[in-house]
Amino acid sequence: MVGDGRTGSAICCLSWNFRDIQEGPDPVDDNGGVLYLVVSGAPAPEGIPALVAACQGAGWRVVVFSTPTGTRFIDPAELERLTGEPVRSEYRMPGTGNPVPAADAVLACPLTFNSVNKFAHGHADNFAIGLLCEMAGYGVPVVVVPHCKPQLASHPAFGESLETLHDMGLRVLFDPDAPYERRLPPWREVIDALPVRADAG
Ligand SMILES: Cc1cc2nc3c(=O)[nH]c(=O)nc-3n(C[C@H](O)[C@H](O)[C@H](O)COP(=O)(O)O)c2cc1C
Repeated sequence: MVGDGRTGSAICCLSWNFRDIQEGPDPVDDNGGVLYLVVSGAPAPEGIPALVAACQGAGWRVVVFSTPTGTRFIDPAELERLTGEPVRSEYRMPGTGNPVPAADAVLACPLTFNSVNKFAHGHADNFAIGLLCEMAGYGVPVVVVPHCKPQLASHPAFGESLETLHDMGLRVLFDPDAPYERRLPPWREVIDALPVRADAG
């Protein structure tokens, strides 16, 4: 039986990575409103620091995760300075590193063609994708913002993946008719797609 994903005691069949997050040696008092921001190997014209700031402005405490390739597109030190948390891109072994608070929402942005397909098909061969699959399984609200060129988006696997993610109950922000330079929506549209924070001003 699996609980609601927020109460460690109700969960008895977790993969170790989320159990490690929920029940680490020093669980973090998150006070609600924790957003996991998952980035991948695609550029973001407005910048990930600006996305973090916009999420924080909307009342979220942001923790950044990245695919291994995604770390080449960000400045982890800058994001750590902004969030107070290291960017996590690797599974950690029990007893090492620091736990993170449980997520109240997840934002996968930008998510590459590759990672969209892997998420939809459950190919959890890196920490970030494993985390996305697991968060969706717990029913944590997930917003997916793919970023890929039309030539990749026209691949039949991509459309099927978007449909799968949609059928899983996730919010997907992707406009196949968007102009090339607007393939990624503006951050304000991304923020609007997040759940509303109950205690946000
Ligand atoms: C400069 C550069 C820009 C890229 N832009 C994109 C992109 O916008 N969308 C995309 O799907 N892949 C893009 N890629 C390719 C991905 O980085 C590549 O498919 C990678 O394997 C994705 O890994 P990940 O999904 O694990 O992050 C880009 C690669 C480079 C080097």
